[in-house]
Formats: sequence, structure tokens, C-alpha cells
Amino acid sequence: MIVHHKHPVVMNVEEVTERAEPRAFSPHDDMPEEYRKAATRMIQFHANSEIMGAYLERPFIRQAPSLDRKLAFSAKVQDEIGHGQLLYRAAESLGIKTRAEMLDELATGEGKFLNCFHYPMTEWWETPMIAFFVDGAAMRRQATIKRTSWEPYAHAMDKICFEEGFHIKHGEDIMRTLATGSRREQQLLQEAFEEWWPRILQFFGPTDDRSTHHDFSERVGLKTMSNDELRQAFLNAYLPKAQKYGLEIPDEPRIRKEDGRYIVEEDDLDWEEFWEIASNEYAGSHEQIDSRAATQEAVAWVRNAIDRSEQP
Ligand SMILES: [Fe+2]
Ligand SMILES: [Fe+2]
Repeated sequence: MIVHHKHPVVMNVEEVTERAEPRAFSPHDDMPEEYRKAATRMIQFHANSEIMGAYLERPFIRQAPSLDRKLAFSAKVQDEIGHGQLLYRAAESLGIKTRAEMLDELATGEGKFLNCFHYPMTEWWETPMIAFFVDGAAMRRQATIKRTSWEPYAHAMDKICFEEGFHIKHGEDIMRTLATGSRREQQLLQEAFEEWWPRILQFFGPTDDRSTHHDFSERVGLKTMSNDELRQAFLNAYLPKAQKYGLEIPDEPRIRKEDGRYIVEEDDLDWEEFWEIASNEYAGSHEQIDSRAATQEAVAWVRNAIDRSEQP
């Protein structure tokens, strides 16, 4: 039974921990600041990533080789922007930051987003690296967020996961076409895979003991699975798929299978670059952020017009 309280119930972190169940908390509850801040950080990062991913894919609405592909890319990019907006609303419901503030932070380079979206993507044969692998990885994480304790976040995930199902099919179809195409296409796909594979492995972040916010988020039910568990689930599903499409898994980073589990040699991955990216200091980050800032600037007149029309 869902009980909606007319008057906010003031809670401390211990009570939140005790009551932390899927979709347990909503704006009806008076959550401690620590929870509201942690949830805002998590949802804002997610929202930012949706937007920045869309920016990376946007040029392919034009560059796609056929009308069908253009339509599919156009639909996907619109979905991703929609996911971002939906998530900013869910983040806003925590009362820490407004949607406008979060969009501003993204344009000024303060807002953080997923590692994969800091790298440029310029060629058609790179597109399945995001549309199939990164969306597939995102889907692993997002499916678990349906059970997060902040109800508006979980609610947003119902729609988002539904649409992600289509994105992955779209990415897989591009990959299948390239993988069964000419030798040249197969070779370009392999090269793109080799370049993106380490970044995709880093998608889930470092091992749990090195992750800063994990403990609290798990305790209060915001996160339901650890980085390691998610990466494991992703590898179990996607490593065989990559092989099925004839992709050769690079020798580095070393990955071995033990008792049905894939173990990634973490020292083979470039964590220095990962942390540069995490603080928006990577050379490629500036390019992505500047393009976001330029768009923010270009549509300032729309925001101003809306603001003016809303004044009494
Ligand atoms: Fe999305
Ligand atoms: Fe997506």
C-alpha cells in the first residue's frame, strides 16, 4: 500500500536507511539534506549524460547513409533530449537545484557526465559503439534504477527504459549491417571497437572500493547494484554479442573468465584519463562542453521570451 502523507514526515538518515525500499520516498516526505544532495548529484549526472550523448549523436541525423537511418537517429536523439529533461524534473523534485541551474552548470563546464561522451565520434562506423554498447551498458544500470528509493527517479525510468529498448535494437541493426558488409566495413567496425572498448569498460567506473559516493547511495536505496556487479552483468551479455558479430576482443585490457565471471585487469585501463574526464579536464571534454554552451547561448532568446510571457 502506498501512503501519501499530507504533512511531511521529518526523517533522519537512520530512518531513511531503515525505510529504504524501491520507490519508498517522494516529495511528500521531508528527506534529510544528505539524501537530497546525493540523489540530486546522481540524477543530475544522469540527466547531463543523456543530453551530452544526444549532442554526440546529433550530427548523424545528417551523416546517416539512408533515409531510414536518418529517421531512426532523429527519433533517438529526440528521445535522449527528452530523457534529459525528464530527469532534470526528477532532480528538481529534491529541492536542491532547478532545471535551469543544472542546464547552466552543464554549459559552464561545472556539470559532470559519462566518460564515453567526452570523446569525439565522427565516423558512421563508430555509431554502434554508443548506440549498441554504451546504450546497452546504460540499460543495465537504468533497469536497476527502477528500484531506486526516490520515486520520481524510478518513475522516469519506466519511460526511459522502454525507449532504450528501441535504441539498442537500432544500434544492433547498424552493427549487424556493418558486420555483414564488405571486408572494409568489417575492418572499420573492428577499429572503432578497439578504440572504444576500454572506454566502454570504464563506463561503470572504478571498482567499488575506489568509488566515493557508493556507500551512502546504497545504504539509502538510491543505488541497488554496485559498479562491479553492473559491469559483470554487462560483460556477460555483451562480450558474447560482440564475438557473435565477428568482433575480436582486444588483448588489452586483459579479461579472463573465472567461475563464469569475467575479470577485467583494471591496471590495464587508463584511470588517469578517466579521472581527468571525471573532472571535465580532459582535452576532448572542452570541445563537447563548448558545443553545449554554444547551443545554450543560441536558444537564450527562447528562454527570455518565455520568462517575459510568464511575468504578470
Ligand atoms: Fe537515454
Ligand atoms: Fe539511449
